[in-house]
Amino acid sequence: MSQKAPIRVLVTGAAGQIAYSLVNFIAKGDVFGTDQPLDLILLDIKLMMEVLGGVVMELKDCALPLLREIVATDDYEVAFKDIDVAFLVGAMPRKQGMERKDLLTANVTIFKGQGQALDKYAKKNVKVIVVGNPANTNALICSKYAPSIPKENFTAMTRLDQNRAMAQIAERLDCNVNDVNKVIIWGNHSATQYPDVRFATAVKNGATMIQKRGAAVIAARKLSSAMSAAKASCDHIKDWWFGTGDRWVSMAVPSDGSYGIKEGLVYSFPVICTGGDERKYKIVQGLKIDDFSRSKMDLSAKELEEEREMALSVCKD
Ligand code: NAI
Repeated sequence: MSQKAPIRVLVTGAAGQIAYSLVNFIAKGDVFGTDQPLDLILLDIKLMMEVLGGVVMELKDCALPLLREIVATDDYEVAFKDIDVAFLVGAMPRKQGMERKDLLTANVTIFKGQGQALDKYAKKNVKVIVVGNPANTNALICSKYAPSIPKENFTAMTRLDQNRAMAQIAERLDCNVNDVNKVIIWGNHSATQYPDVRFATAVKNGATMIQKRGAAVIAARKLSSAMSAAKASCDHIKDWWFGTGDRWVSMAVPSDGSYGIKEGLVYSFPVICTGGDERKYKIVQGLKIDDFSRSKMDLSAKELEEEREMALSVCKD
């Protein structure tokens, strides 16, 4: 039996389809290790409490030895209290006919509220991954309303895009996905992202199909990517928690001005995570950016600047 103190892990959108895979991955030790007990806090909206109750029943029925307490709630104070890690998966879905601005506006309200709750109730060293779309800008808004928590603790997920790229390359080269490294996703988790394989090892050809993979999964499954998104969010947090060694991973993080990307934009860069007690990440520096890459990277940065402007225009304070 582990001697470690339990950590508190929050999953929002816990009644949704990504969370349905994610909570099991987390609770069985895939992210924080098989010797790390944890309390799992599951947040969703009031309307979904009955569904969430079913998820709790199934989690209990998994008989997972690391899982101590399970809390299902729609109350921010209960959900965010003393948490060590937040998987912010829940978001307002894009409905038919909804303009991008409407989607951003609805999500600003959610992520403003969750930022304020993090500020008020969470541990000051809480690590945050935003999965809910538009993930990069949601992370930016969340951080804005949590001024007592370091900006670098807010990240957004582009790991699914990286994993998709690595899997495509491995398939094409008939090698194991672990043999593929240094694939980079630059920019926004959107169609303007730039999957960059110029530095990739174990690769001969360029990566394709990454931006359109989500649409292909929807067409086949009639539902959006969920298991792979859950797995990717686990990869993101596991690497941040334990470190990457010399592997590069893509994370959308607040820009420090690297590669000419405006400071503060939550932009996907190649990073190395140092692990240890500090759990820091560093943007990989010194990569040569050719003209083609520059134009792709700038296009995604421009989209993020527009998103930021739109999101901030609906923030009243
Ligand atoms: P889903 O619709 O199955 O579940 C979303 C859940 O969030 C619902 O149960 C809903 O009630 C809940 N929710 C809505 N507002 C909430 C709030 N204020 N607080 C707590 N919960 C709230 O959606 P799914 O498939 O699980 O996807 C979740 C999000 O992840 C979507 O925004 C999706 O676009 C995004 N996504 C991001 C990816 C990435 O690579 N960054 C990849 C795949 C999905």
